[in-house]
Amino acid sequence: MNYAFIGLGNMASAIIKGMAKSGQFTNDEILGFDIIEKKAEELADFGLKTCNSIEKVAAADVIILAVKPQILPQVLPLLKGSIINQPLIISIAAGKEIAYFEHQLGKLPIVRVMPNINATVGAATSAYVGNDIATLENKQLVARLFATVGTVIELPEHLFGVFGAVAGASPAFAYMYIDSLARVAVAAGMTKQQALDIAASTVFGSAKMVLASSEHPWSLIDKVCSPGGTTIEGVLSLQADGFEDAVHRAIAAVIEKDKKLSK
Ligand SMILES: NC(=O)c1ccc[n+]([C@@H]2O[C@H](COP(=O)([O-])OP(=O)(O)OC[C@H]3O[C@@H](n4cnc5c(N)ncnc54)[C@H](OP(=O)(O)O)[C@@H]3O)[C@@H](O)[C@H]2O)c1
Repeated sequence: MNYAFIGLGNMASAIIKGMAKSGQFTNDEILGFDIIEKKAEELADFGLKTCNSIEKVAAADVIILAVKPQILPQVLPLLKGSIINQPLIISIAAGKEIAYFEHQLGKLPIVRVMPNINATVGAATSAYVGNDIATLENKQLVARLFATVGTVIELPEHLFGVFGAVAGASPAFAYMYIDSLARVAVAAGMTKQQALDIAASTVFGSAKMVLASSEHPWSLIDKVCSPGGTTIEGVLSLQADGFEDAVHRAIAAVIEKDKKLSK
């Protein structure tokens, strides 16, 4: 099997490195095309072979579209003109629906995937959806591919907007939260690096607790809040300052913008 990436930026690099580290794709050929040739050379250590044209990419069994959404109108007509067989098309472009690719490329097996930036450290949360001719085998291949950079779930396409907000944009919110925690610790005399390490590792551990526990997050919150203790003061203060409302409004704002951009 061969896999060919179009666009070798942040996300493609993370996936190619994930594939290499997993050791599951050693018998496969991994190809890549980018307008900047140097980017393919930088990934040679991870088994990537340079493709010098989209025409060469078009001969692959699996084609992964990893350019920015606004570049797709340049790339897809070239790709369509060069496809001979029936490759599996995987798109990771934010906001671009399967119908768009079917319109641009014709009826091919297409799987749309939404990873997130945490793919860089093998901890992405990705969702995928296939079109009506994508086989179970195609979808299993996609799940195996994206499992090399984190967790993967199949999701109906109408939920991709909300998924993009909760999984795609929220890493930025989580980084903000970690930085806010650390800044207060700096004000109290801790070094920024130490404060960031402590805040990030605490958020990491808390996420693990939610994932591993069958308890509702509020039950976990109650466990940390001893009667008359310090934590309950902080929880009440956050609630009084509209912490949850602020998060809800941020997610709604992301979904709203995604709807506008998708039109
Ligand atoms: N980054 C994320 O967190 C994230 C999350 C979910 C989904 N995505 C999706 O993943 C895709 C890639 O995002 P990214 O962050 O990896 O972007 P990126 O770092 O900008 O990577 C895209 C690469 O494609 C190259 N390129 C531009 N025009 C090209 C062309 N005509 N042919 C071949 N290569 C071309 C770019 O070169 P130049 O730099 O010279 O333009 C760049 O190296 C996007 O569709 C995005 O929506 C990204």
